[in-house]
Amino acid sequence: MKNILFAASEGVPFIKTGGLADVVGSLPKNIDKRYFDVRVILPKYTCMTQQMKDMLTYKTHFYMDFHWKEEYVGVLEAQVDGVTYYFIDNESYFNGFKPYSDNVLFEIEKYAFFCKAVLSALPQIGFKPDIIHCHDWQTGLIPVYVKERFRGDEFFWNIKTIMTIHNLKFQGKWSIKEVKEITGLADYYFSSDKMEAYKDANLLKGGIVFADAVTTVSDTYAEEIKTNFYGEGLNGLLSARKNDLRGIVNGIDYAEFDPKTDKYIEHPYDAINFRKEKIKNKRALQAELSLAQDDRKFMIGIVSRLTDQKGFDLIAYVMDELCQDNVQIVVLGTGAEQYENMFRHFDWKYGDKVSANIYYSEALSHKIYASCDAFLMPSLFEPCGLSQLMALRYGTVPIVRETGGLKDTVESYNEYENTGTGFSFTNYNAHEMLGTIRYAEHIYYDKRREWNKIVDRGMAADFSWKVSANKYQEMYDWLIG
Ligand code: ADP
Ligand code: GLC
Repeated sequence: MKNILFAASEGVPFIKTGGLADVVGSLPKNIDKRYFDVRVILPKYTCMTQQMKDMLTYKTHFYMDFHWKEEYVGVLEAQVDGVTYYFIDNESYFNGFKPYSDNVLFEIEKYAFFCKAVLSALPQIGFKPDIIHCHDWQTGLIPVYVKERFRGDEFFWNIKTIMTIHNLKFQGKWSIKEVKEITGLADYYFSSDKMEAYKDANLLKGGIVFADAVTTVSDTYAEEIKTNFYGEGLNGLLSARKNDLRGIVNGIDYAEFDPKTDKYIEHPYDAINFRKEKIKNKRALQAELSLAQDDRKFMIGIVSRLTDQKGFDLIAYVMDELCQDNVQIVVLGTGAEQYENMFRHFDWKYGDKVSANIYYSEALSHKIYASCDAFLMPSLFEPCGLSQLMALRYGTVPIVRETGGLKDTVESYNEYENTGTGFSFTNYNAHEMLGTIRYAEHIYYDKRREWNKIVDRGMAADFSWKVSANKYQEMYDWLIG
């Protein structure tokens, strides 16, 4: 049996702000239990729902030296679908209404604490991983610490680490002086071939440099991040590590996202009966959101963190024009105030055409995936993207920009060859996007049989974890040797 530990800052069902949580919640379930014992370790945030907190049981606690203090480290445990989850408890770090705050220095200290606590907890709980699989900058110090202070302890000698980049934009950067104090790492670690980048300390860079393997969440993104435009300043390093960097595309949890059994939707359906049944969900959603009751409106869904990554500048630019069409636009998301207010404004301006839902809701997200005709995701960059996979699974046709995982998972409709699962455009240009949306409208209104075949192909595509989980397993085997 090979032991794998996932370390991450969020994971379904306990805490989620975006796709990282979906991956951390669903990939371990899909790793073959006959050969691998995969466990997950997360922070125990005070903002977790009571229902989730009630699932946790106390395991142990100890005190750890950190940033000139003795810090309490509690360890809790839970089981979900055969996967063991551990939680690091310390209420002075993991407090607040949301998992992340805007106070960058505090975030760095908080996740530095998490990384050290994860490693310190392992001998106490008696789980010795062969591999620690780290996700995003919050866990970037783990590969560093494994090779540094924990090297003195035999327990850690053979532990390998993997750094998976879900989003290169976030790196955990701050002044070397303060990061040195927080982490207790020696000067040696803050050179430009290690954790220093552009005069600052960079936690993700530490993870990339010290991990035994580096992955990201789609092939195209793995290529893109070696370029200046997508590389967020680390393209040089990623090019240098190109032999250790691979893209493995994400899957989604096919049990959780299944239009046939989805408990959040009123009218279940499948690939056979969607032509008759899916529309009932559209009617229900129109009623729920006070949109015009009209089967023939082309309903476009958006479920997203509202950040510039997702291409909302393009949408803002042509929203007035788009609203002249026979469409309805349903938005669910939170994030940057400018985009929240933009959608609120258009909701006010085009009452029964636009519905802006500026909050987080699992239930409404599933209803949108199930009810809409199309799903819009014109991202500026997109490491993988899960929303378009959810849309495909629910027979909702994605309209995407050809970047990162969107390019790898949505095949553009070709009317001459009768192929494709969605619509896509190349350049980050608002009218190119609008042209593509209008082309989709044209197929929807004037060539409905063709439209339905696009839906058929989308629902038949397989984005469960089957193939990708295998790739991770091969990588684990190869690293463990
Ligand atoms: P990212 O990780 O960049 O946010 P992904 O497409 O990989 O993008 O994953 C986004 C996930 O978050 C999806 O599961 C999506 O349904 C969910 N999501 C985003 N915003 C909301 C929201 N306001 N309410 C419910 N779910 C949301
Ligand atoms: C990040 C990316 C998204 C990806 C998700 C899970 O949040 O923005 O594209 O799907 O991580 O890997």
